[in-house]
Amino acid sequence: MTEDSMTGDSTTRDSTTRDSTTGDTLAEDFDVGADWHVAAPYPFLARLREQAPVFKSEHLGAYVLTRHADVRAAYGDPRRFSSKGSLTISRSLTRETREKLGEHGSFLSSFVANVDPPDHTRLRRSVSRAFTPRAVSAMEQEFRRLNEELLDRLSPKGHADFVGEIGHEPSIKLTARFIGVPEADEAFVQARVKDWFQLFLSPQPPARQLELADGFLTYLDYVDRLVAARAKDSRDDFTSLMTSLIGEELTHREVVELISTILLGGNDTVPNQLGNTVLRLLREGAWPVPPELVANASEECMRIDGASLGSFRYAAEDVALHGVTIPRGALVLLSTDSAAHDGTVFPGPDRFVIDRPNAAEHLVFGYGIHFCVGAALGRLQLRTALEVLGRRLPGLRLAPGHDVSYRRSIVGRGLTSLMVEW
Ligand code: HEM
Repeated sequence: MTEDSMTGDSTTRDSTTRDSTTGDTLAEDFDVGADWHVAAPYPFLARLREQAPVFKSEHLGAYVLTRHADVRAAYGDPRRFSSKGSLTISRSLTRETREKLGEHGSFLSSFVANVDPPDHTRLRRSVSRAFTPRAVSAMEQEFRRLNEELLDRLSPKGHADFVGEIGHEPSIKLTARFIGVPEADEAFVQARVKDWFQLFLSPQPPARQLELADGFLTYLDYVDRLVAARAKDSRDDFTSLMTSLIGEELTHREVVELISTILLGGNDTVPNQLGNTVLRLLREGAWPVPPELVANASEECMRIDGASLGSFRYAAEDVALHGVTIPRGALVLLSTDSAAHDGTVFPGPDRFVIDRPNAAEHLVFGYGIHFCVGAALGRLQLRTALEVLGRRLPGLRLAPGHDVSYRRSIVGRGLTSLMVEW
């Protein structure tokens, strides 16, 4: 991905003309700098699925797979679609920023989602120890309590920014407790996690990169100290469990990367999905969701407004698909956002159907060996939040004149704010 591609200077035009030998679409492209890229990419994605299912995006510097069957097959074929280095979307970092980051410029190089077997098999085994069904269901009570407490404080107010005041706090607190971050450090950790997300996963101008790099280095230092503290004095938390595996199954760096990224997974994706979900339900007049429909409604919301837009892979060999050859070494985006709107799998894909029978066939948690290790926890949080919010705020509605805008990101969909009242 080039600096140009990240800043996004394209205009969108209507016709899509594909060069059938290279997969190039000559007129139209993704534009991560434009609002439609996250807010309303569906007409564009539908054209790609139909006319250019293997699309070479100049802006993303990647081939893009858009059909459900192709996206699923690529996730399921790690031999040809490698994860090694695929998350390191730091190609837009300036030389100065890289120098500042030093050895951390390749941060995430040993993160579980960023490696192939056999490393992946070993890391996944370690991390999965913390996500047993028992451990996940034990978090339900705590999450429910965090939501109730928040609403005790907020409900007399009668209005709020759902994103800033409701959606994030319970997930952030739950994740912090799961990891073992002391309560007093939660705000610090939250701010630093945002820094690294912005630095590595979304386009930033050079001066801002340097500021974010500072925040990121401070954060790494913090996680290092947390690991050292748990090595001395083990507790009942994720950091202690992973730290106890250093030297046997894991390296110190792997543990630091796991903790940092799980903080991001927990702090950001679930609240983003919850915000997208509540907006959808309010707009569809489907609030509050009857308890017996909560599980399916949350799957349908994940399908239609997924918080994850897709995953990157590298072609490990030349891959021929739909008349296009993806050359070995090329970056490939598996567009789960497009797969979730594929009408061959989900009839009337742009319609919200609260009891859609196969809603859960979305690929928003990925698929195959890298399938989201936090999926059960994510689902549990979404369902619990919908139940508690629906019961406590049955009159929830969008505030008059509310504005809907999304963060600019290649990989995620999340609202910047959502003004609601009750
Ligand atoms: C709605 C919320 C979430 C969404 C949409 C989501 C999405 C994803 C996706 C698409 C992947 C696959 C990445 C790939 O194949 O390249 C993934 C993997 C992963 N997720 Fe999540 N996630 C969510 C919640 C969480 C939570 C709550 C945690 C942890 C607390 C978590 C931790 C992870 C980890 C560690 C991996 C890597 C697994 C591996 O590579 O084997 N996620 N997630």
